[in-house]
Amino acid sequence: MSHKEALQHPIFEVIGKSADELDVEAYVIGGFVRDYFLKRGDAKDIDVVAVGSGIALAQKVASKLDGKPEVTVFKNFGTAMLKHQGLELEFVGARKESYTRDSRNPIVEDGSLEDDQNRRDFTINAMALGLNKNSYGVLLDPFNGIEDLKNQLIRTPLHPDITYSDDPLRMMRAIRFATQLDFTIERESLDAITKNKNRIKIVSKERIVEELHKILLTSKPSKGFALLNKTGLLEFILPELTALQGIEEIEGQRHKDNFWHTLEVVDNITETTDDLWLRWAALLHDIGKAPTKKFHKKIGWTFHAHEFVGSKMVYKLFKRLRMPLNDKMKFVQKMVLMSSRPVILSEEHVTDSAVRRLVFDAGDYVDDLMTLCEADITTKNPKKQKKYKNNFKIVREKIIEVEERDKVRNFQPPVTGEEIMQVFNLKPSREIGIIKDAIKEAILEGDIPNDHQAAYDFMLEKGKELGLTAVVI
Ligand code: CTP
Repeated sequence: MSHKEALQHPIFEVIGKSADELDVEAYVIGGFVRDYFLKRGDAKDIDVVAVGSGIALAQKVASKLDGKPEVTVFKNFGTAMLKHQGLELEFVGARKESYTRDSRNPIVEDGSLEDDQNRRDFTINAMALGLNKNSYGVLLDPFNGIEDLKNQLIRTPLHPDITYSDDPLRMMRAIRFATQLDFTIERESLDAITKNKNRIKIVSKERIVEELHKILLTSKPSKGFALLNKTGLLEFILPELTALQGIEEIEGQRHKDNFWHTLEVVDNITETTDDLWLRWAALLHDIGKAPTKKFHKKIGWTFHAHEFVGSKMVYKLFKRLRMPLNDKMKFVQKMVLMSSRPVILSEEHVTDSAVRRLVFDAGDYVDDLMTLCEADITTKNPKKQKKYKNNFKIVREKIIEVEERDKVRNFQPPVTGEEIMQVFNLKPSREIGIIKDAIKEAILEGDIPNDHQAAYDFMLEKGKELGLTAVVI
């Protein structure tokens, strides 16, 4: 059966023609073919395998294209890449690969298409469509990937022990694909991942994080994290999360399992945000609970200052995983640090001053913080659930109200230190800080409005209390 309709883009004819001229076989393989059968929309990455030189094929293709795109050659890997009309084309010569135990970099030898397919990660990623004139649109699917697509199964072409130990990143990829596509990982494969889990150590942190990002960006990340946990990979990658597992009971008092709670929060937040870093914040918002957990005879379980401890852990975790230590990390830290603030508000009567303080402390992140806290409601008690949701609604309304009236987001003191110095003829001193703080407090408490005149009058009063004399009024 021909699948020419998959190859409607004119680029495929150009590749086929180039391959015929060079007298090599050429196939489109991997994600493009898989996503075509899954009807997952237009793929932008196209992998082409040539039985012969992938580099020569890439060069020939480029010479036929408008604008003669540049070909980037990776000689060591025998691959070449070019960009054309928003597509990224990767060319590789069919190969037989074998791997050493300590590195992900293979020793490569030329091989047949079948050799190449054997060495790919999953049956659904090993399907190839012919591009030469005599094979145009013909599907070569030696491991019945089509059937696995139908049965929604992640399966390896060779014995999974071989496929995963060849390239341990594939353990993460298996879990990522299972999460993205909502597929099941075949039993043998899952066992092999569990068995080979410690081989993840030879995979670069950047590649691991890339897969974690992709899992977090799915609509149900809990599936991926549950699989990472079940196979034992999570312990190597994010031990801060596995440490949250379990429910302890002392004198009949139990706390919730914070690992499963966290996964629920992450799933919840996917419904309200696509922001990767806010999703990371949801994943990490409770990590401080493991090291701060204590049992007290009178009050039961506490996690005192877990938000503070957790925010410090975020830095170490990002550093270990070689994630950016920039404003993204600071954002996640801030979310973790403030993650309980709106919760406290939602449990009691919501006052204006508490909301003002929240907006003042969270600044531009206040909406994200509210989104996180709403996702954090996982109580199964419908009455409580309703109450918290409603209180958050009130908090959100109050934030808008307070914002319009008091403008405390990115608060700038209405009276500057400079002005205080002039009015009281002061040199830089402690008193200036005291007066400035008192003004800020009075505004946040709602004792005075956030405007210059009110703050100025308040400053005069405060100065008097401190025994200062105003020289200009
Ligand atoms: N591949 C592999 N082992 C890996 C990575 C990739 O065998 N560790 C093969 C698979 O055949 C895969 C192809 O190379 O289909 C292309 O890899 P990549 O672009 O990383 O993934 P895609 O399958 O295209 O999927 P996605 O774009 O969603 O990552």
